[in-house]
Amino acid sequence: MAPSLEYDVPLRPRRLRRTENIRRMARETRLSTDHLIAPLFVMDGENNREEVSSMPDTYRHTIDRLVDKAEALDALGIPAVALFPAIPEALKTPDARHALEPDHLYPNAIRALKEAVPDLMVITDTALDPYNADGHDGIVKDGQIVNDATIDVMQEMAVLHAEAGADIVAPSDMMDGRVGRIREALDAAGHSDIAILSYTAKYSSSYYGPFRDALDSAPKDEAEAPDKEIPDNKDTYQMDPANGEEAVRELMLDLDEGADMVMVKPALPYLDVIHRVQQHSDVPVAAYNVSGEYAMIKAAAQNGWLHKEKCALEALTGIRRAGADLILTYFAEDAAHWIRE
Ligand code: PBG
Repeated sequence: MAPSLEYDVPLRPRRLRRTENIRRMARETRLSTDHLIAPLFVMDGENNREEVSSMPDTYRHTIDRLVDKAEALDALGIPAVALFPAIPEALKTPDARHALEPDHLYPNAIRALKEAVPDLMVITDTALDPYNADGHDGIVKDGQIVNDATIDVMQEMAVLHAEAGADIVAPSDMMDGRVGRIREALDAAGHSDIAILSYTAKYSSSYYGPFRDALDSAPKDEAEAPDKEIPDNKDTYQMDPANGEEAVRELMLDLDEGADMVMVKPALPYLDVIHRVQQHSDVPVAAYNVSGEYAMIKAAAQNGWLHKEKCALEALTGIRRAGADLILTYFAEDAAHWIRE
């Protein structure tokens, strides 16, 4: 180590690494259950759950089992869940109209959660992909994902979710201008106290693969798509993985439209984006540690190649260090246990 410029003594950063207690004193980043949000998948049926094949130990739950899971998460001190529905293929249409049914699976699940665990914050998703026969987050016309007609549906979805008891509405679709228009719709319906968590910088990522398995919601390829012109990727609305500056531009728009919280997604390949967004944001920043990031650690751990707990906690700490205030992660429940121990 080079000597100090003024005194002839070596500088020794290792002094602060000597014991666990001195390391705790010097620690810059904290990870607590306060920072964790658990994504949950709900499906039709009773007293049942199905493991997502590409996401070991993560399940689609029927509403009754979802409530049990939510009670466990609440007891662990996890403040919020983000809910996603697995809609039967037969109910999916090109106009995603099932999303607006007042008593289908999703609003019923929201009501059940709020009744059983009222304090647990329920974050709902307003994108159309679980309901859309094409697997896209928006309405598809002539091979294009149409922006404003999609927002019309999302406005109604947001109000439906708020009426069912949602605390936070989260548009994950990347249509332009949707935050402001969802805000208007919520306020007009008397839900001015419902917050919006915007998926601000959501990248067109291949790390969403296991999530699309969970909901069977992958964009259809040419063989399956009813309309052959439908693109089999989300590149015209989700962001290009090569772009960082553009995330700041999206952030400015979302803040201007009234987003209460913002999000970067995925997390680990985009730590620099989390950092940039955090530097420019005056609202809480969330990061989504997505399904593929979870699957990588789980698969390697199953092979005995990585230590699951240590790698997961290191990843979550890294996401916090990059600047995320909140982390959506399929490790939420496990991490809450690990942090307690
Ligand atoms: C869709 C949506 C996706 C995820 C959350 N909402 C997938 C996609 O955009 O295709 C991915 C989450 C994950 O991979 O864990 N609106």
